Amino acid sequence: MPVDRLAYLGVETARIAEWQDFATTILGLAAPVGADGTLHLRLDGKPFRLVLTPGTEEKLGCVGWEIDDAAQLLSLVEELSARGLDVAAGSAADCADRGVDRLFRCIDPDGNTVELCHGHRDLAEAPAFSRPIGGFKTGECGLGHVVFGTTDILPMSDFYEAVLGFRLSDYTAEPFPARFLHVNPRHHSLAFIRTPQPRLHHVMIELYALDDVGQAYDRAQLRDEVIAVTLGRHTNDFMTSFYVATPSGFMVEYGWGGRMIDPDSWQPIATTEGPSLWGHERRWLPEAQRAIAREMRLRAAEAGLKAAVQVTDGFFDVVGG
Ligand SMILES: [Fe+2]
Repeated sequence: MPVDRLAYLGVETARIAEWQDFATTILGLAAPVGADGTLHLRLDGKPFRLVLTPGTEEKLGCVGWEIDDAAQLLSLVEELSARGLDVAAGSAADCADRGVDRLFRCIDPDGNTVELCHGHRDLAEAPAFSRPIGGFKTGECGLGHVVFGTTDILPMSDFYEAVLGFRLSDYTAEPFPARFLHVNPRHHSLAFIRTPQPRLHHVMIELYALDDVGQAYDRAQLRDEVIAVTLGRHTNDFMTSFYVATPSGFMVEYGWGGRMIDPDSWQPIATTEGPSLWGHERRWLPEAQRAIAREMRLRAAEAGLKAAVQVTDGFFDVVGG
């Protein structure tokens, strides 16, 4: 797999002030606005994992994917060009802005800007948080995962799987068609679900401490309208999470306890038990599909479906306790 991990996400927004409040209050992040009006959200040592750039509308700017081996990055760029794709090298200023040594840009079938980068640097200073959370599980697994809504999954999955080398984790048809892809031990770093319009659906960030998720859920419930999906647990990656609507319209999944897979031995499967073991009432989903999802959860409970809790090694060293 040439791509090693999800590195960063860039979003253009007319709602920087709302984002600052949202990131601080709900996500637990320090969110200082820079002199140019840009908001860099840090989860770990990287200069940012999410960057909000002032604009006139809400739109995805870029999704950055890191490739550890510089030679592999260059051969991937050659292969993309040979397939007739436009690939442009990022300028020195682009690289400095993202904190990477090199970057190349291309466009996926839905028009999203993909940035393939190498040499994603850490800053000397640790990130500050707005409350004493235990930090985010990133490292070799990267930022988390990103999910696109798309009208046709096939061209998108073909681009990311056949061209960029992502591997299939699993796929499902109900309550909505979805396809989950991995590039490292995180069960999925990328997924597609079928939606009426193509859009950024959500980005998942994973906490080390389950209690940080619960305490953020308390905060979110004080603003009931931001909860887009209630607390629940996923059947495929075992993530316990809830989803909040960001000021830009897409969601952030705030999670804990995602499973780690062995990418070398993993066999892709079709899943039929629904997306969640319990919870995850999806306010974004049309009522007919919500009813199907609810029915699938009740069937999962009737069948006694459950999964072992996934605790990260060294958890107490990281968060204390
Ligand atoms: Fe997710």
